[in-house]
Amino acid sequence: MAYITIDDRYLKDFTTDAEMDEWQAYVTKAHNELHNKTGLGSDYLGWLEYPNLIPNDEIERIKAVAEQIKQHSELFLVIGVGGSYLGARAAIELLSHTFSNELSKEKRNAPKIVYVGHHLSGTYLHDLFDLLDEHDFSVNVISKSGTTTETAIAFRIIKQYMKNRYDERELRKRIFVTTGNEHGPLKQIARKEKYETFSIPDDIGGRYSVLTAVGLLPIAVSGIPIDEIIAGAQQAYEETKVDNIRNNQSYFYATLRNIFYNKGKKIEIFSTYEPRWHYFQEWWKQLYGESEGKDGKGIFPATATFTTDLHSLGQYIQDGERHIFQTVLFADELNRDITIPYEEDDVERLNDLAEKTVHSINQSAFEGALIAHTKGGVPNIIIRSPKVDAFTYGYLVYFFQKACAISGYLLQVNPFDQPGVEEYKKQMMSIIYNR
Ligand code: PA5
Repeated sequence: MAYITIDDRYLKDFTTDAEMDEWQAYVTKAHNELHNKTGLGSDYLGWLEYPNLIPNDEIERIKAVAEQIKQHSELFLVIGVGGSYLGARAAIELLSHTFSNELSKEKRNAPKIVYVGHHLSGTYLHDLFDLLDEHDFSVNVISKSGTTTETAIAFRIIKQYMKNRYDERELRKRIFVTTGNEHGPLKQIARKEKYETFSIPDDIGGRYSVLTAVGLLPIAVSGIPIDEIIAGAQQAYEETKVDNIRNNQSYFYATLRNIFYNKGKKIEIFSTYEPRWHYFQEWWKQLYGESEGKDGKGIFPATATFTTDLHSLGQYIQDGERHIFQTVLFADELNRDITIPYEEDDVERLNDLAEKTVHSINQSAFEGALIAHTKGGVPNIIIRSPKVDAFTYGYLVYFFQKACAISGYLLQVNPFDQPGVEEYKKQMMSIIYNR
């Protein structure tokens, strides 16, 4: 059995085995295009084999730099946006202590991580200095193109601040650059100032790059074992390399999405039951939104965190316009859980739940919502993960990347470009320069 499985017990009213069989030929075609590198965007397929090809010395260098940063930094700034930021944040928030940044240094055992350059908020950047004033810190600026406005502005501002505080030798110990463009401005700065640099392979696009130095360096700084992430991705590679939908859970997911899309379900809500998945959902949203939303096509990727959002979006999911399907990711085992205590007077009448874990109640909410939403006409794809750890994270990243590529090919779009994003940049620049 595969490590991550799709539980299809709530799909019987929405699709059939015969329908799945009809899609097999399209999936096989998409699979061959992907693996033979003959499909759309085939210059950007480096991620496909990368978990097996990532050089050992690169992994060792990432670990060594992470150790060095941990030694002399109380704070670590990750400067980047989109694919150069979301994957690392997804891993760190999923796998670290929930209140990591608020814990004492001894308990945390890693620098506090702060994200910068993922928007254009002057207030955020201004307020950041109050934090920097109080801590020794290091920076990893990440941009494949080296030209992204949000990242470049944040880096310039922070670099100026650092130059007033640290000497040149110290700056070289505290500024790390991850970039892909040999001729880009970020690479030029790194070369001139002699900052240590990690490269992003040319054939791996931003949102498919988390398993390169882009994601692995910040993740390693936070103390997460990156070897286990890579091992998870390698296992996902092995388990998703056949074209048969029934033997490949990643392709099963990709096919189900397209079946529902063709039946008018234009919105996918990716739901989880633990807040620590939030940035993993954000990473997923970018992956699918940028990969599929083009040429007037594509499923709109939305997210919900339950049970919180059962008290807000729940009404719409149950009863609103029937153009949605859900993908629910549920981890069976938690590494930390708590039981509900018994109380003599039991004013809230909770004693029936006493000694049960909160996760077991969450599990009942999950089962209950599945029944309710299915009754409400929403197909529910359940993705089941045995636990939440670094291995699982690596596995899921690869699983969703592969599914996204196949799903894009089934939709007949190029899942590796983002022409729509370029358009807003063009318009913004013309406003800036014509003002
Ligand atoms: O997937 C993509 O290519 C984008 O989301 C990029 O990751 C994002 O725009 C950041 O680009 P860069 O890494 O060039 O700064």
